[in-house]
Amino acid sequence: MVENVISCLSQKGGVGKSTFARLIARTYASAGWSVKIADFNVNQLTSTKWAARRMALGATPEIAAEVCTTIRSIRRDNYDLIVADGTPDSDQSSLEIARIATLNVIPTGLTLDDLEPQILFANELVERGVDKETILFVLNKTTDSKLAVQEARQYLSSIYRVAETDLGHKTGYQMAQNVGLTIAETNFPTLNERADQLAAEIVSRVNEIEEKYNG
Ligand SMILES: Nc1ncnc2c1ncn2[C@@H]1O[C@H](COP(=O)(O)OP(=O)(O)O)[C@@H](O)[C@H]1O
Ligand SMILES: [Mg+2]
Repeated sequence: MVENVISCLSQKGGVGKSTFARLIARTYASAGWSVKIADFNVNQLTSTKWAARRMALGATPEIAAEVCTTIRSIRRDNYDLIVADGTPDSDQSSLEIARIATLNVIPTGLTLDDLEPQILFANELVERGVDKETILFVLNKTTDSKLAVQEARQYLSSIYRVAETDLGHKTGYQMAQNVGLTIAETNFPTLNERADQLAAEIVSRVNEIEEKYNG
């Protein structure tokens, strides 16, 4: 049974779940862990297709992905870590994942149109038994306006923990993923550094939570 599960969840599509799931998977795989992405997007198979592009490219570390509708089946496999890439349209699978995950990453854009449904989504998870401490918001697709980032962060952080590193909206991040790479493997060192910084923050939060509960 795989004990280590990290999820990327949200009710909204297009906010960065798959992007972050791949980043997290790649970060742990680079450290020698065997990692599988559980792709809950059964209609579009986004991360499964991405993993196939990665394999065709011959990029290392290799990252496995498998489409699934329940986290239970995939946890029977032998992996050090499962990264769940959630789907916007299933409350039930999101809840099931969120309850067992060490960390639940919720990506969001900066506008109220993004923030409000994401907060409602997180509230619903908490109401249904998910530990609030496991939730980490990440601001994604930010623009040059520092004020907009600051306002969104302020709005969110009165309720939930928000990653200190936000990610700008960059074409380089899209181009990398188009060919099976992660946002830490672009052609642009500054973009990679930023993505790695976010990944390090996520890893450190996971370790913090684990120490609190196991240590
Ligand atoms: N920081 C970013 N900059 C530019 N494009 C991004 C960024 N984050 C995500 N994207 C792009 O936005 C689209 C949706 O992201 P994705 O991770 O697939 O969201 P979700 O899985 O939540 O639907 C994808 O085309 C992805 O490449
Ligand atoms: Mg997705």
